[in-house]
Amino acid sequence: MCACGRRIPDGNFATAALIFRRRGCFNASLRNHMRESPRSGTLPVMKLQNDTFIRALLREATPYTPTWLMRQAGRYLPEYNQTRARAGNFLALCQNPNLATEVTLQPLARYQLDAAIVFSDILTIPDAMGLGLYFAEGEGPKFERPLREEWEIRDLSAPDPAVHLRYVLDTVRQCRQALAGSVPLIGFSGSPFTLACYMIEGRGSSDFASVKKMLYRRPDLLHKILAVNATAVTDYLNAQIEAGAQAVMIFDTWGGMLSHGAFHEFSLAYTKQIVDRLTRQREGLRVPSIVFTKGGGGWLESIAAIGCDAVGLDWTVDIGAARARVGDRVALQGNLDPAVLLASPQAVQKEALAILKSFGRGSGHVFNLGHGISQHTPPEHVSALIETVRGSSVAYH
Ligand code: CP3
Repeated sequence: MCACGRRIPDGNFATAALIFRRRGCFNASLRNHMRESPRSGTLPVMKLQNDTFIRALLREATPYTPTWLMRQAGRYLPEYNQTRARAGNFLALCQNPNLATEVTLQPLARYQLDAAIVFSDILTIPDAMGLGLYFAEGEGPKFERPLREEWEIRDLSAPDPAVHLRYVLDTVRQCRQALAGSVPLIGFSGSPFTLACYMIEGRGSSDFASVKKMLYRRPDLLHKILAVNATAVTDYLNAQIEAGAQAVMIFDTWGGMLSHGAFHEFSLAYTKQIVDRLTRQREGLRVPSIVFTKGGGGWLESIAAIGCDAVGLDWTVDIGAARARVGDRVALQGNLDPAVLLASPQAVQKEALAILKSFGRGSGHVFNLGHGISQHTPPEHVSALIETVRGSSVAYH
């Protein structure tokens, strides 16, 4: 399906932007809505044709529950794998704004999604700090120069996004142009703590033992890294907003492995610093923020209290219970177990309906997975999910 609701013929995924243009879906009302922004000078202000995602984040009324999926552009889509092969590898794809824009749009050409997320990775920040990101085939991300010595930590500084992360900002600008006001564009970053996990460990890990050792042995050093990261993430997200991101999301993938006290001191306090300093308004519209802590179900009240507009939930919490705890303060995003998508369209439908029912009537819910989509997901199971939520959620609004 195209974002306008029309189906795109199978096998024709040359570039989503081209398809959209050919059909005129994106540009139909564009001419009416485009006018020069008095403040930006460069970025055209256009009314969103579909603003259900932004409205739900602000807990305003919507006709149905909007949906997008974490890692919606990725290896489960054959067209993604083709573009990635053309780029050479994953990092080259992230660093090529034309191809990164192409893959950002691919899931929107297939499915009736209510938001696009800029194609990039959270580890672009430590790479811009000089740590040397690389992806060994089949092994996930690694750094050539992880933070090992005290002097390396003392020397760490926040990169200038306009210089060192320009390729991401160029992608944001191109995505906004290609989307042409059809659906909003989400910018994102890792949380200071989750970035620090990779910067210290030098790679993914099941327990991030070196990080925890530093936390208990040399908390001063970890605090120094987190302070730099908080500045880096703030500058980076504000640069994405300036370039055209209409909502932002902070991924705290590893905060959930911390103790209660350590989570508040080493993860949430720094995420709050960022939220405090985010640009709130752009092009005359509120730019909502979403904070997602995987494994953060025990701390929803404190996450909801930092000033973000929405809290992302993993699949371990009941969304209705979460709403009862924080629903008068923030919107909720989530929270289907991504493993359900591996099962069958019937299972997908059953589990999606259970989430809608648990959240209940009213606005303030953005449907999503509880974590990123698996590369083994059959694309037609995603269709079943999107169609179920779009069709069945109307009754709750
Ligand atoms: O949601 C989207 O569609 C936007 C793209 C996106 C990617 N990474 C692309 C990606 C986003 C939002 C991320 C965030 C990210 N990256 C996180 C936080 C969210 C989470 O999943 O917890 C983390 C921890 C990373 C770091 C990272 N990048 C890991 C651990 C891996 C390897 C995991 C894997 O699935 O292989 C990546 C690689 C990565 N980032 C891929 C994609 C599409 C797969 C790379 C490929 O094509 O080979």
